[in-house]
Amino acid sequence: MNNEKDITILAIETSCDETAASVVRNGYEVLSNIVNSQIESHKRFGGVVPEVASRHHVENITMVIEEALVEAHMTWEDIDAVAVTEGPGLIGALLVGINAAKALALAHSKPLIPVHHIAGHVYANHIEERLTFPMLALVISGGHTELVLMKDHMAFEVIGETRDDAVGEAYDKVARTIDLPYPGGPHVDRLAASGEDVLEFPRPIMDDYDFSFSGLKSAVINKLHNLNQKGISYNKEDVAASFQASVIDVLTTQTFKALEDYDIKQLLICGGVAANRGIRARMEMMCDSNDIKLLIPPLNLCTDNAAMIGAAAYYQYIAGKFGTMDLNGRSNIDL
Ligand code: KG4
Ligand code: ZN
Repeated sequence: MNNEKDITILAIETSCDETAASVVRNGYEVLSNIVNSQIESHKRFGGVVPEVASRHHVENITMVIEEALVEAHMTWEDIDAVAVTEGPGLIGALLVGINAAKALALAHSKPLIPVHHIAGHVYANHIEERLTFPMLALVISGGHTELVLMKDHMAFEVIGETRDDAVGEAYDKVARTIDLPYPGGPHVDRLAASGEDVLEFPRPIMDDYDFSFSGLKSAVINKLHNLNQKGISYNKEDVAASFQASVIDVLTTQTFKALEDYDIKQLLICGGVAANRGIRARMEMMCDSNDIKLLIPPLNLCTDNAAMIGAAAYYQYIAGKFGTMDLNGRSNIDL
């Protein structure tokens, strides 16, 4: 840790449908956190349209960065480095943030720090409460479902991941099947609270620590199709509750298997799906009874933002891991 001088980082995130910029000091002090969401523009298409996302990023990026500096009461003199999400994400969207970061770093002679989007999701928690190790992180978002073992800062070992759909993707597809608006996760979450797990969907448990959600998603679609054909009525609340019950069983089974096998006493849950009330409640209960410390970032830091990128970037700054002017977007990049 560098205790001599404050390190202030301007961070940019444009990997999907949020144009975001933030000023973060020393890895956890958030001086500003601007998130410009495009959800309204993508809603009518039922999902994120990459070309539309890129165009919105181009239109908003300069304003969002300016706002982040103004809100933090900072000028370029006060900024030590420019951090940006390098990937994974939509390539056209990533490139908008990366080109903005490169131009600003060059113009103001600041080092450039490329950050992995998932590292950002994990470090979202660091803002509220400092991370300590060893720790297991369950990353659940619209693009990712991963179990990550961490023994030190920025040291990630992916021990399990989805073999097909991400859990957030499954939420969004199930939501669309029962005519809920995009993004469907929060709506399924809300309906599930008043429904019952009566539809008996499968619980796909892999032998290792991997996940698979495409079979579950298909099972939901097929079941509803069959019921419709037979003229049997169902309510959306029960569909949501049954789907969510299956997701929760799968997530907790794989996560607690890994915690036990690796003898880890701390669990961090992050990513957009970590906002889910049902998942949070079951994880809290199970962590309590298994003597596991549970860390979940506050709701506004669960979904995509740039503060989390600035938090992770601090540790790369300390380690001297900088990028160069040939930095490119990488839609698929390992943690
Ligand atoms: O982390 P995030 O903002 O973006 C990605 O990096 O993917 O996650 C977005 C995902 C969407 O699939 C959304 O439906 C899901 O998170 N989500 C939820 C909830 N809130 C957001 N899923 C289930 N329950 C929620 N309460
Ligand atoms: Zn994300």
